[in-house]
Order: sequence, then C-alpha cells, then structure tokens
Amino acid sequence: LHASMTFETSFVVGEVNPRLFGSFVEHLGRCVYTGLYEPGHPAADEHGLRTDVLALVRELGVTMVRYPGGNFVSGYRWEDGVGPVAQRPRRLEPAWKSVETNEFGLAEFMRFVREVQAEPMLAVNLGTRGLQEACDLLEYCNFPEGTALSDLRRAHGAADPYGVRLWCLGNEMDGFWQIGHKPAPEYGRLATQTARAMRMIDEDLRLIVCGSSGSSMPTFGSWEREVLEHAYDAVDYISCHAYYEERDGDVGSFLASATDMEHFIDAVVATCDHVGATLRSPKRIEISFDEWNVWYMNRPKDIDPPQWTVAPRLLEDVYTVTDAVVVGSLLISLLRRCDRVTAACLAQLVNVIGPIMTEPGGAAWRQTTFYPFAQAARYGRGKVLQTAIDSPAYETAKYGDVPLLHATAVQAEDGTVTVFAVNRDLTRPLRLSIDIPALKVLEHLVLADPDRHATNTAEHPDRVTPRPHHATELPPMSWNMIRLG
Ligand code: AHR
Repeated sequence: LHASMTFETSFVVGEVNPRLFGSFVEHLGRCVYTGLYEPGHPAADEHGLRTDVLALVRELGVTMVRYPGGNFVSGYRWEDGVGPVAQRPRRLEPAWKSVETNEFGLAEFMRFVREVQAEPMLAVNLGTRGLQEACDLLEYCNFPEGTALSDLRRAHGAADPYGVRLWCLGNEMDGFWQIGHKPAPEYGRLATQTARAMRMIDEDLRLIVCGSSGSSMPTFGSWEREVLEHAYDAVDYISCHAYYEERDGDVGSFLASATDMEHFIDAVVATCDHVGATLRSPKRIEISFDEWNVWYMNRPKDIDPPQWTVAPRLLEDVYTVTDAVVVGSLLISLLRRCDRVTAACLAQLVNVIGPIMTEPGGAAWRQTTFYPFAQAARYGRGKVLQTAIDSPAYETAKYGDVPLLHATAVQAEDGTVTVFAVNRDLTRPLRLSIDIPALKVLEHLVLADPDRHATNTAEHPDRVTPRPHHATELPPMSWNMIRLG
C-alpha cells in the first residue's frame, strides 16, 4: 500500500490557536476527588493537589481547562465551592447521582490551573439558575475590589482578580438529560441576555453558546440556527461535542470517526455562516469543540456504580491502542479545521474518560490516549499547511469509502514541519511519500502494537508507549508523528 502527501509552506489553512489543546475537569466520578485532588495522598501538596498528577498534566501539555461541568454545572451553586472549606455544604448531585462535598471549588481549581500553567474556561449554570448568578460569579472572579462579591473573593484569600476570559453559557442545553433543558428559542434568548449582561460587567470576555451535544441529536442544525438567530451578535463561539466508540465490532467505522467530526465541523460552520449572511454580519462565529474523545458509553457495565456516594468510579474507560489511534485522528481533524476551531477540550482529564488515571492512595499513570495528545500539544503549534493527499481507500459501514491515510502538517516558527499521520489499515503497512525534497526526517515516533487491544494499567503503566521508527512505512493501525527539518 502506498500513499503520498504534498504541501507547500506558503499555502496555509490557518494558525493553530493554543486553546486547541484544552481539557476538561468536571465534578464527576473521580476526576476531582482522588483524581487531581486527594489530601492525605503521599504525593499531595499542602493544598491537597496530587503532585504526581500535576506533573503528568504538565507533560500532557494542556493549555486550557474547562470547569466545573458538564452536566454537573446545570445544577451547581458556585457559592457552595468558595470560602472556608469546613463551612461548605454537602449536596445531592443529581446529574451523576452522587454526593458533592464541595471540598474542591473555585479557589482550588484556580490553584490547579496556575500550577499547570493552563488558562481557565468556566461554565455558568443556565439549567437551574440564570443571568443573575452568572453575573455574580463573574463579579466574584473578575472585578478587582470594592463591591460585595469582589471583596468576598478577597476575604477568601484571592486579592487579585482571577481574570477569567473564557465562559461557557451553560452546558448541552439541547439535551433532554440536561437539568433545565430548554427549547432552542428559549435557550437562545437566555444565553443572549446573559452574554449581554456579562459583557456589561467585563468587556474583555470570550463567550461560548451551546451548540448541539452531538451531530446525531434530532435538533442538530436547527438548534444551531435558532440559537444563533438570537445570540449571533452577543457571542464569540458555538460549542460542538462529540464522543466516539467502537460498536458491534465495527472497527473500520470506528477508525474513521474523524470523518464524522470533520462533517460535523463543516455543517456547524455552514450553519453559522448562513445565520451571519441573513444578518448581513461581517462577524465570523468560531467553534469551541469543548468536549471530544472516545467514550464507551454503550458498553455494558460489569457492575452498576453505587448511587449517592462521594466520588464513585464512573466513566473510567481503559483505553487501547485502537482508541489512541482514533484520538490521534480526531486531533488531526481539529488541526485541519483550525481556521474555525479555535478552542477545544479533550473530555476529560483524570480518571473520567481521561488520558491520566490514578488509584486512591496509589499511582498515577498515562493511558494510551495520553501520547497523541501530548505530541500534538507540543508539536502541533504554528501554521497548519494545506495538504494534497493521495491515498487508497477502504469501505466503512458508516461513512462509505474513507482514505486509509489521515494526516496533517504543521509548520513551526523555526521552519520545521511536523506531520501527524494515521494509517487506518488494520493489517497492512502504508508506505508514505512526502514530496518535499528540502526537508529531511528529524524524528519519527509511532504508536502501534501487534495487539490492538493493549492498554496501560497500574501494574503495567508503560505497556504502550510511542517508539522511534526508521522506515517510511506507517505500521498497520498506527499513530505517527514525523518531524521534518
Ligand atoms: O464528559 C461527560 C459528559 O458528557 C458531560 O458531563 C456532558 O456535558 C456530556 O454529555
């Protein structure tokens, strides 16, 4: 099998926004508690943050972290998570049927993002709450001093404003499962009013309105149009969410998941631009792909997790080599659409469908999916180049014919070019010619394994790692990073 890839460094898709390498921390299962936060753990710092997890998050290269949800945010009272910890209430958490202790809240999250040098992205509750609470939270976070809420923050120990720029106006409000789910016109009006009021308090905000929680939602397309007919002038981004999984043994379609992601992005861009055209607006809405990942949502569970407990084991998917190849391919799609996708969050960060796993009181380790993300976050910086790809195709049940090679090329400021490439063929290597004579291969790292189901575990944390590769062939079912200079 043979594929070729050609690019020219003056033909550019767009500049990669570093916010493309965001992740997501929700109060869900063990993402926070016994994930990144575990007072009493041997590696915990004096604030209860696990330093072993902090080190892995830094290595992962996450630039931005969305918080506190997710479905959780639609029932959350932010005031529960500020001030003296001993006085914070324990609450029922209906979204995930858990108990929330509120031991971890805003100040703890801000400390966490400072430690990993990431930007915060906060979501406001537009499920059980509304405009006033969103404005209150914004005042608490961003107003310097001299008002009740800014002084409350100062009294809680944060003298300087947090300066949070990125705000999600609710979460998945199109979903029937969402607390306070609303029809599009109702949500569109609420999001617009909230956005306008928030901008009156702080003009320097980037606001994200909820798009569809998946392209298979029955309201997909009309939801975006109706919401933007209200919110177009008031917001900067619309969100996309997508999760993929291998179903019924159809690995071919699973490996082609990025086809769906690219259609999804193109459809949302077209819808945004349609609304922009009807409004005669020169403004372009950007996409915040603020939840994406592989998630085995439909896989039967061995045991039902206990309900109404603190930090139950929920959504603890253990990722295989195949999953890592798909995650890499989804990263390629985000890069290929970087002219419109200017923020994105791998959902989530620790334990909950996360690239990092932990055991309470025990070790922290990298899942297979950690590696493509870490490599893309490090080397996928600069300009994405237009690529002409000539590749054999294969037939998939879900998406018809799909190219075996999925790839992109990113040029860094120093002139080096990094090619990220996936070979979707399950059994055969794919010889790749890159027709750029001036560039030589500096490094080629591969993630592949004869056992496509191989995983990393607490006992064998380094079973799957990327390794150097010295041939022009991409191994069967592999994720590749090829640096050229
Ligand atoms: O990331 C897990 C969940 O997926 C989030 O809480 C929700 O927004 C989405 O449905």
